[in-house]
Amino acid sequence: MTSEEVRQKHNSYLFPATLQYYNEPIVVAEGKGSRVTDMEGNSYLDFFGGILTISVGHANDDVNREVVAQVSRLSHISTLYPTAPLVELAEKLAHITPGSLDKCCFVGSGTEADETAVMMAQLYTGNAEIIALRHGYSGRSFLAQSLTALSSWRALPTQVSAVKHALSPYCYRCPLKLTYPDCGVACAEDVEELIRTTTTGKVAGILVEPIQGVGGFITPPKEYFEIVAEIVRKYGGVFISDEVQTGFGRTGKMWGIDHYNVEPDMMTMAKGIANGLPLAAVITTGPIAESLTKNTISTFGGNPVSCAAANATIGVIERDNLVQNAGAMGEILREGLEALKKKYPKILGDVRGMGLMQGLELVADETIQDRTPNSQAAGQLMEETKKRGLLIGRGGLYGNAMRIAPALNIGVDEIEEALAILDESMKAVAQ
Ligand SMILES: Cc1ncc(COP(=O)(O)O)c(C=O)c1O
Repeated sequence: MTSEEVRQKHNSYLFPATLQYYNEPIVVAEGKGSRVTDMEGNSYLDFFGGILTISVGHANDDVNREVVAQVSRLSHISTLYPTAPLVELAEKLAHITPGSLDKCCFVGSGTEADETAVMMAQLYTGNAEIIALRHGYSGRSFLAQSLTALSSWRALPTQVSAVKHALSPYCYRCPLKLTYPDCGVACAEDVEELIRTTTTGKVAGILVEPIQGVGGFITPPKEYFEIVAEIVRKYGGVFISDEVQTGFGRTGKMWGIDHYNVEPDMMTMAKGIANGLPLAAVITTGPIAESLTKNTISTFGGNPVSCAAANATIGVIERDNLVQNAGAMGEILREGLEALKKKYPKILGDVRGMGLMQGLELVADETIQDRTPNSQAAGQLMEETKKRGLLIGRGGLYGNAMRIAPALNIGVDEIEEALAILDESMKAVAQ
């Protein structure tokens, strides 16, 4: 098949709403390390990793070896039977997650993980209401769409009524029109008013992303989660960190929440856990886990091949010090992006993120403080970077945020190559 034939069949047989990048979507046929190749052999440097999922590079030999070995032994059995890769992964997660998180539940997607975490919060606390953040993304089910606070991802004209949305800690576009740090992190303090005015006065918990991923890599100020966690716990709730994008070293620490001096009561994870094989998990404390007393299974959750891939992926991250690498390479990437901001001060309004999770926000004219979202420039930048062989992501409520997130084992040369392409592409867009 040619790329064109694939695109045509996609148009004919897939849901039309399936979001795809680029005017002419790239049909990726192969990947190795940080490069992917399309059906015609065109190569691209991949700085989006299948949405922050390829943690240790495409077709990583160490991960693939374990996957092939496991698929030859046993590819499926369900959670009705314990398996060695499953318990090995659960034990590892218990060791590498903070505090007393040591009970895992494996499922098939981030959506299901967030669903499970909310259910556990409700069962444990006996309370119903759950707080999520505006500009957050939690997935595609009814509850996950309800938690999500980005209209372009909310298809249904109704939502789970127990979900209440707090202000986003979106400093570049402060919902309270204040400036950090003089604001006193008022957006965090507002969670108390939210609870007192829109709930029964008792909540099951709050579910937050340490960096709002789909929302455009919105990075909260360092005090934010500590304040929020204290308020939520005061009203009976638990703190859930959604590490689906920020987990496994992405931000230069093992977990995004590690930057914020908060020990979560629960964590959800997916994407980067198994280098692309489908797997997601919730980890929590013994007492919270014990609050689920009905039966639970997941047919695909904890699939042995996915678990073997996860064990190998975490093994590579630890062996090659990739959390530290994400921090160090993230600094080089950030410096380069800040330099681009100086070079293109009009449309490049904001650079934000941590480690290898760096975002750019494109606006009308930052030099005169006109921060009107420039989604047209964002669309153009996607096309210009594609033309020059670089894949990056796009997001944000207004579609004007660029998301840059290469594999954790990226090197300086590849970062410099990407920055040079971004520079050329920005030049074309800024004209
Ligand atoms: C923070 C966050 N949570 C949950 C999800 C849902 O994950 P999935 O697409 O695996 O259902 C995503 C997906 O992008 C996400 O970014």
